[in-house]
Formats: sequence, C-alpha cells, structure tokens
Amino acid sequence: MNREEAVLRELNLYPLWRLREGNGGAIGHPAAHQRHAGDIQSPAALESLSQSPLRGQRDTVASTAVQAVEIVEPKVETASNKSREQLISELNWPELKAMVRDCTACKLRAGCTQTVFGTGDEKADWLFVGEGPGADEDAQGEPFVGQAGKLLDNMLAAIKLKRGNNVYIANIVKCRPPGNRAPEADEIATCLPYLQRQIALIQPKIIVALGKTAATSLLGRDATLGSLRSKLHDYRGIPLIITYHPAYLLRSPMEKAKTWQDLCLAVETMQKA
Ligand code: URA
Repeated sequence: MNREEAVLRELNLYPLWRLREGNGGAIGHPAAHQRHAGDIQSPAALESLSQSPLRGQRDTVASTAVQAVEIVEPKVETASNKSREQLISELNWPELKAMVRDCTACKLRAGCTQTVFGTGDEKADWLFVGEGPGADEDAQGEPFVGQAGKLLDNMLAAIKLKRGNNVYIANIVKCRPPGNRAPEADEIATCLPYLQRQIALIQPKIIVALGKTAATSLLGRDATLGSLRSKLHDYRGIPLIITYHPAYLLRSPMEKAKTWQDLCLAVETMQKA
C-alpha cells in the first residue's frame, strides 16, 4: 500500500472516489456509486488533510472599510426610524464591513479581539458557512484559518474548489464566543442579519452549512445534524446543503465519508443549477 492509500484508509476514504470521464461524470466510489458529480475526483488533496499549508488570503477589507466609516456612521444615525435589520439589508459591501467591524450589538464583542467578517470571492457561486471564529480566527481576522480551516481547505480541494476562487467563507457569528462555546440564541439573532446581507450581496448558487449551528440558524429551526444532512434544503431560494463541521470531523474522522457524500450532493446540485 502506498502512502496515499494509507492516508485515505486512515481517513476512511479508501477506495478512492474517481471521476468517470465524460457524460457528466459519476463518482466511482462504491459507497457513492449512485451519485453523479461533475469535474471532481477524490483528492490527492485529501492526502494532506492534516498537513496542508494555510492558503487563506487576508481580506483586503481594512482600507476600504476605513474609508467607508464616514459613509456608514451618518447612515446609521439618520436611520433611527428603520429597524436594524432593515438598515443592514440595504448596506453595500464597504458599509456592511464597516458596520460589522464596529459592531458592539451583543456581548460577544467585549470578549474578542476583532470581528471576523468573512473572506473570499464576493461574487462566488459557493458559500460555506461555519459557526463562529475560534482562537486562530480571532487572532487573524479571517474565518477557518486554524486546524478546522486546514481540513476545510482540503474539503474544498476535494471538489476542485479553492478558498477565494469562486468560494466565499463566512460564519454565523462574527465574534469569537468565549472559550469556543457555541453562540447563544440572542447572539445568533443579533448577528444573523449580517450574514443575510452577505448572502444577498454575494448571491451564491449554493450554500454549504458546516455544522449544526450554521444549519439551524439558516433554516430557522432546530434539528439534529444527522437528520438534516444528505438532503437538499432551501435558504431563500438558494440550494442549501448541510454537512458536518470540520472541527467535528477532526474529532470524529469516521464521519468524513458522510461529509464526502454531502459534498458530492452539493456538486451534483450545482451541476443542475
Ligand atoms: N469554526 C468555525 O465555525 N468558524 C471558523 O471560522 C473557525 C472555526
């Protein structure tokens, strides 16, 4: 057994899923033979699930956002007759970035270093949504740059995607919850309009929710992740796929095979879009 096979076996991803050439492409993994996905192939990239270098690019928000403060602040003050949600739903990118950067609307901001807005292609077809920043993201100001982010990068590579290239990555809450606890309902409710506006601006063709917090926040109802994954959902007319959070997969690597199936469903859905 060569090293690649050994690694994939370790990840419970062996035998390889291989793209069958032509005719839309079907994935030749025995566990996924019924799926039809396009230009994907099981990943050499998966070999580096635990070791890939960070590829994240820092968002170039800062200078734009600073310039936008002058625009945002008067707008907020003169819009006292509008609901906060209404106001956020009308912001453009620089205004939204500035408002998130300066947000103190919930208790999370007091305990974090900085807000983590989101990163990537602002016209992306693919939007991946996580829960909230962890310690690494809080320090660097970018989503998914820690260990879970490395796994996310490899999940992206597995379906021929790359951070920043037709992909946008964001979180449900923009501030790190203390001690990496899950965000609370009031924190989610306060922060969600920002993500909703990001989605409206990006207009992705598909959303992939990573983990239960992302899934239930977008769906607006509680359910177990197990009951939500492997199905096609809808978020305001946009196909929504739900799968495990990369941090969970780091703790429960046996679930990676299911995540792969969910990613295949996402690719298949995109091909029909
Ligand atoms: N986990 C998340 O949900 N989001 C991040 O940005 C990092 C870890």
